[in-house]
Amino acid sequence: MSAQVPSIPSNGSVNGNVLLEAKGVTKRFGGLVAVNNVDFTITQGQIASVIGPNGAGKTTFFNMITGIYTPTEGTLTFNGSSIAGLKPNQITAAGIGRTFQNIRLFANMTALENVLVGMHTRLKAGLAPILLQTPAVVHEEVRARERALQLLDYVGLGRRIAPAAARNLSYGDQRRLEVARALATEPKLLLLDEPTAGMNPLETAGMTTFIRRLRDELGLTILLIEHDMLVVMGISDRVSVLDHGTKIAEGTPREVQSSPQVIEAYLGQGGAEEKLAQMKERSHARTA
Ligand SMILES: Nc1ncnc2c1ncn2[C@@H]1O[C@H](COP(=O)(O)OP(=O)(O)OP(=O)(O)O)[C@@H](O)[C@H]1O
Ligand SMILES: [Mg+2]
Repeated sequence: MSAQVPSIPSNGSVNGNVLLEAKGVTKRFGGLVAVNNVDFTITQGQIASVIGPNGAGKTTFFNMITGIYTPTEGTLTFNGSSIAGLKPNQITAAGIGRTFQNIRLFANMTALENVLVGMHTRLKAGLAPILLQTPAVVHEEVRARERALQLLDYVGLGRRIAPAAARNLSYGDQRRLEVARALATEPKLLLLDEPTAGMNPLETAGMTTFIRRLRDELGLTILLIEHDMLVVMGISDRVSVLDHGTKIAEGTPREVQSSPQVIEAYLGQGGAEEKLAQMKERSHARTA
C-alpha cells in the first residue's frame, strides 16, 4: 500500500514509559466476578495481547479501560492520569481508541461518514460556527474529509469505498473501517477486540501485518484481544492470560506457551500437549 501515512501527533512520551497501568482492577456483575484483581501494564510502543477462554473477562477488561464500565475496585492510570470512572468520550479524548468484538459501525452511513464520526472528538469547531458554516468551519471540514480519505487508503480500503454504505462492505472490510474510525480519534493507545474474528486466513495474515505497521509507522501502542494463536504469537511483545477473570500468566509469547497453567486453562485438558506442539510449530514456522 503506497497510501500517505496520516500524521498522528506524538504524545511526547519516550519509548519504554508506562502508558497504561491497571492495579487491582475488579468488575463484579452481581455475584459474578468477571475481572478479578488484575494488575496490568503496557509501555509506550508495545504490542500486547490478552488471551483466555470464552468468558474469561477480556472484553470486560477493555470495557473498563474505555469507560463503558466503571471498575468495582482498582485503579486505571493512562499517561499519568486516572481514567477510572471517566465517560467513554472523555477516554477517547484522552487518547484511547478501540474497535469492538461485535462490529459497531453506523450501518446506514457511508464509510467516509463513519470515519468522520471518529474524527468528531478532534474537530475544534463548536456548534454555533458549524451551524453558521463560517469559513474556518468550512476549511476544517475540507481538511477532515481529506484526512478521512487518507485513513481509508491507509487501512487498505481505498478512498473509492468512501460513498459505500458500511453495511454493504464485507466483514473483513468492516473490521478495517472500524480501525479507520478508531485511528480518526488520534489515539495513543489502540485497543482491538478480536480484530481477526470472522476473517479468512488471508485476511487474518493481512490484518496481522497491518497491526504491526500501526505500531511501527504510527508509533501506536496496541493492546489486542485475540483467539488466533498464530496472530498472538506472531506479533505480541507480551501476552497476558485471563481465566475466570483472574490473570494466570504473563510474559513473552514463548514463556506463556510453556506455562502449564495456560495449557490447561486455555487449551483444555484433552490433547493439550498435542495442541501446544502444533502451536509452537506454527509460531516457529512464522518467525523462521
Ligand atoms: N454487562 C454484563 N452483565 C452481566 N454479566 C456480564 C456482562 N458483561 C459480561 N458479563 C459476564 O462476564 C464474564 C466475562 O465476559 P467477557 O465478555 O468479558 O468475556 P471474554 O473473555 O471477552 O469472552 P469471549 O472470548 O467470549 O469474548 C462472562 O461470564 C459474561 O457473561
Ligand atoms: Mg470478548
